[in-house]
Amino acid sequence: MALSIKRPLGTEDITPQNVNKWHTVETIVKDTAKTFGFKEIRIPTFESTELFERSVGDTTDVVQKEMYSVIAKESKFTLRPEGTAGTIRAMVQNGLLNDALPQKVFYILSCFRHERPQAGRLREFHQFGLEMAGSQSPYADAEVISLAKSIIDRTGLKNIALNINSIGCPTCRANYHKALKEFFAPKVDCLCDTCKSRLDRNPMRILDCKSPICSDIAKDAPLILDYLCEDCSTHFEKLKSILTNMGIEYSVNPKIVRGLDYYTKTVFEFITTDIGAQGTVCGGGRYDGLIEQLSGKHVPALGFAMGLERLILTMESQGCEFMENQSCELYIAPMGDIAKDKAVELAKNLRDEGFLVEYDIMDRGIKSQMKYANKIKAKFVLVVGDNEIQSNSAKVKNMDTGEESPISLDKNFYDSFSSLYMANMLVSED
Ligand code: HAM
Repeated sequence: MALSIKRPLGTEDITPQNVNKWHTVETIVKDTAKTFGFKEIRIPTFESTELFERSVGDTTDVVQKEMYSVIAKESKFTLRPEGTAGTIRAMVQNGLLNDALPQKVFYILSCFRHERPQAGRLREFHQFGLEMAGSQSPYADAEVISLAKSIIDRTGLKNIALNINSIGCPTCRANYHKALKEFFAPKVDCLCDTCKSRLDRNPMRILDCKSPICSDIAKDAPLILDYLCEDCSTHFEKLKSILTNMGIEYSVNPKIVRGLDYYTKTVFEFITTDIGAQGTVCGGGRYDGLIEQLSGKHVPALGFAMGLERLILTMESQGCEFMENQSCELYIAPMGDIAKDKAVELAKNLRDEGFLVEYDIMDRGIKSQMKYANKIKAKFVLVVGDNEIQSNSAKVKNMDTGEESPISLDKNFYDSFSSLYMANMLVSED
């Protein structure tokens, strides 16, 4: 009977056949973040809706159109649409910001946004992200950008363009908002309903509206770079010169505004053209006002997040290498009940030392057991029957070469198998 309940639109299953791709990127992002001194943080999957309304911003697409929210026992909760708000909430709530600054944390988590699904755009997706709190120096911006770049380099990806911009602080924003209002006011009737309501409260949000009509109108809008105050401008110039000194190539794209309200000064995106329209594999920036807004304490901060599905899609499209799924190192094929008990004992022996060992639990005959061992790509097979048990010795077969080697089944079993295994692995590496 066909399964009548399917997974929800915009979600994906990660099966054992492709989980190695996830292990590959998860290992790279964690190892790289650790070498920069970042420590892992884990936060709840849902938070109070108010947290996202106040941080991501109640005039953003994410909050206005895309959040999964529920009312439970009169409280309003939302599945996290991103990781920054919850992470900052957790850092404040757990007193991390009272410790030595900068505080540096990273996370791997699932996010939920009710968007129109397409290649690289899901309703449940996964982010690797990090947040650094405490530094206002442009060297911190460069550090975070160079971390993202190191991850991209370690995945083997090529042609990922770094675009940077500065979207200023509340001081420069005031003048810029005025210019945007003047620009959009004569065209207000053509804007979508959401943008009509944004014009007064937050005209910058019209710039990243996903409606094609709004984006067409917005393409000639004034640019924030022309409105930066001296402090923001100096910060941006310094960042550019640090990146140049670090040998990190970038382009200034004055149109990047990002879709979340908390950003100030530096914003950046790493973009590929290899996976279609949803080519932003990483997005981030500085958010110097967010911690103060949530906790009253002024602590400048910044970070980024990478979409792991997009990262993997791009790696696939560029033919990058992934770690292989670990396959069976020894398959034990017992013949008869006494041999089965022996197989259990031998398997435990090797598993305790870290080997991946399997044996027949399907009551198969020897021929089907060999077929199965082939299917699971077992590296070695050990057949154990009455004779082998009596003599306490058997033959172990290398499934690649067909070569058989004697092995004792007594207390030396682990030592004999591991030296045989190592010797064969060394030969196959040559
Ligand atoms: P964001 O640009 O909204 O920023 O998302 C970061 C990354 O998540 C995107 O560049 C993309 O790779 C991935 N992503 C976003 N939406 C989807 C989706 N629907 N399907 C698949 N992938 C998606 C943030 O979330 C900020 N919290 C980043 C940040 C951290 N800024 C400072 N710290």
